[in-house]
Amino acid sequence: MPQRTFSILKPDAVRKGYTGAILAAIDAAGFQIVAIKKQTISKAEAEGFYAVHKSKPFFGELTEYMSSGPLVLMVLEKENAIADLRKLMGATNPANAEAGTIRKRFAESIQENAIHGSDAEETAAYEIGYWFAGYELI
Ligand code: CMP
Repeated sequence: MPQRTFSILKPDAVRKGYTGAILAAIDAAGFQIVAIKKQTISKAEAEGFYAVHKSKPFFGELTEYMSSGPLVLMVLEKENAIADLRKLMGATNPANAEAGTIRKRFAESIQENAIHGSDAEETAAYEIGYWFAGYELI
């Protein structure tokens, strides 16, 4: 059974022109793009999306950063999509990411880390529903 996950190409990656190269890596890894849109989000929208991190010391700067410029929002599908995307992304901190991963290749810091991917089925369902309406996912 194919599984869906949610991903964001973050403002640092989009700003530096890495969108095409990252999409190519996602495509080469066998993901189908179910839905995709480029959008600049508000700080309030970023706060809602990252609500689980509300109590973290980096919450303010994270939501400021995520609303600082256009990003690419995507729903991706394949067998084992959630775990496979996290593997392709690499560690949260690019300094610890394995060679060949998206964060090793394109990210600059633990915050400006190029890409987001859902970490579990429940979060994928929440995140997909947060950014996409049902009619966009047919
Ligand atoms: P993401 O996978 O989108 O989930 C939460 C985000 O918070 C993470 O990627 C980083 O962008 C950011 N983040 C995680 N840890 C830190 C940290 N220690 N300092 C700053 N930002 C962080």
